[in-house]
Amino acid sequence: MPESIIRETHDKVGLIRINRPAAMNALNDEVIEGIGSALASFEADDDIGCIVLTGDSKAFAAGADIRAMKDFDYMAAYQGDFITRNWERLKTCRKPVIAAVAGYALGGGCELALMCDTIYAAENARFGLPEVKLGTLPGAGGTQRLPRAVGKAKAMDLCFTGRMMDAVEAERCGLVARIFPTEKLVDETIAIAQTIAGYSLPVLMMIKESVNRAFETSLAEGLLFERRTFHASFALEDQKEGMTAFLEKRTPKFRNR
Ligand code: HXC
Repeated sequence: MPESIIRETHDKVGLIRINRPAAMNALNDEVIEGIGSALASFEADDDIGCIVLTGDSKAFAAGADIRAMKDFDYMAAYQGDFITRNWERLKTCRKPVIAAVAGYALGGGCELALMCDTIYAAENARFGLPEVKLGTLPGAGGTQRLPRAVGKAKAMDLCFTGRMMDAVEAERCGLVARIFPTEKLVDETIAIAQTIAGYSLPVLMMIKESVNRAFETSLAEGLLFERRTFHASFALEDQKEGMTAFLEKRTPKFRNR
């Protein structure tokens, strides 16, 4: 059986490809465990500064594997902590993670993309939370992260109807940061990820923590967190290097310290 997760390294970028094309990249335990272990290895690798998660040109992931969960009962879901173990690994990753979405990102697939730090979409991308059609509801954060990304009206519309939205609508409502031609999506995303990975990793981690704080706390507390983190950045050699390089009109050499 082919590996359901393909791991590639492109210079300073770690690429994770979901590879279950026969099932539209539906997310079963093997896929989710594969993503978790790829994330762990890229996070432990000092040479990696940014991680990209993608599928193939037809599907990022068409959701949790319906065949695998159809016969679950409450105790199996509860005791097994379904959708928690490994799924939550993305949340704890401290390096930047970009979702590059082509084709379907539905249900758990859409929720997986929502757990990433930003989403770049191919022109053929389709986003949706169709769980209502299956007699259940989004269970991997969709009812919480989607309204934070696109607002209540759009989130309710998508969750109630189960309809899909295309890349243009997704960008217009703030779910997606940029759209690329489908055949160029992965290369363009890797190129952006290389640029990001060229910056100071501790600064990227501070940015990630600070932006995420915006969703967890009040404005006053968030601003205080940001200010203290900003102050802390002056302890970094990379801050000295960045500002010195600007004044010397040269490219900075960040050393992640
Ligand atoms: C298991 C799936 C699957 C899924 C597709 N397949 N999605 N298998 N789980 N989520 C399988 C199909 O059964 C089929 O297998 C093969 O992939 C190709 O799919 P088709 O339906 O034949 O392709 P197409 O007609 O092009 O339609 C594509 C599609 C459709 C629109 C993506 O497959 C679809 O609607 N899929 C389900 C989407 C969905 O409801 N997702 C939410 C799941 S619930 P065979 O063997 O027949 O070739 C969920 C819960 C989240 O995610 C809560 C916690 C995570």
